[in-house]
Amino acid sequence: MARVISVTNQKGGVGKTTTSLALATGLMRKGFKALAVDMDPQANLSFGLGGDTEDGPTVYDLLKGDVHPRFSVQRTSCVDLISSNILLSGVDLEFTRSGREYLLRTGLESLRDKYDYIVIDTPPALNILTVNAFAASDYVVIPMLADIFSLQGIAQLSDTILRLRQACNPDLVIGGILLSKYDGRTVLGKRIRETAEMVAEQVGTRLYKTTIRNSISIPESQTNQVSMFEYAPRNPAVRDYATFIQELLAEGV
Ligand SMILES: Nc1ncnc2c1ncn2[C@@H]1O[C@H](COP(=O)(O)OP(=O)(O)O)[C@@H](O)[C@H]1O
Ligand SMILES: [Mg+2]
Repeated sequence: MARVISVTNQKGGVGKTTTSLALATGLMRKGFKALAVDMDPQANLSFGLGGDTEDGPTVYDLLKGDVHPRFSVQRTSCVDLISSNILLSGVDLEFTRSGREYLLRTGLESLRDKYDYIVIDTPPALNILTVNAFAASDYVVIPMLADIFSLQGIAQLSDTILRLRQACNPDLVIGGILLSKYDGRTVLGKRIRETAEMVAEQVGTRLYKTTIRNSISIPESQTNQVSMFEYAPRNPAVRDYATFIQELLAEGV
């Protein structure tokens, strides 16, 4: 049975898609079977994996129940993908029936025994798409930028996750906060990290030991639609992601 991991933060540009890509391709590289699911209408994850967001069935069709889950999966050069589609942006208005929180969970049910890990990328919002991701997941990773404005958003996010846990998924585990594009050498960086540790504790979670450094190789690999582990395996930020995966595996995730 696959473990389902959501990568989430209501802010944009914090490294959600990058972390989703790293988890899916990095776990695959370790010999696990991984499926990446793109719940963001902007389809950055689908692009990064070279997926088709126009012609083939997408996660939108899966949510609608218009396609057999098996046929919503595309094979890309590194991992299996259920791609996004721009129509996802209308889901909030389009699906109004009760139980609409569980559409993704239901859609993924028959796929769970085919994979070791399912990684879900989420949009920069706390909307029905994010709620569907939470309801379908076992575990949540929260990437965050190491700056003071980002810290301020964490209380709201954690509040939402806790309410959702009560309402639709009592088993959901909030794994922790992953500092991304982080420079631990500066005084400011160290201060932010300490503050982040405090904030995390206050909202009932923690910082992961691993932090992710800043590197141009990350956007480069995405522009080239190549896994970062192939593109620049020795790059510090890529090695950080490999360490992060080790940290998760060591904890039994
Ligand atoms: N560790 C990193 N170093 C350098 N650039 C990064 C890093 N992580 C992400 N980026 C870049 O920052 C931008 C936002 O990251 P992304 O993963 O798309 O965030 P989100 O999905 O939260 O909006 C992208 O252009 C991405 O390539
Ligand atoms: Mg994104």
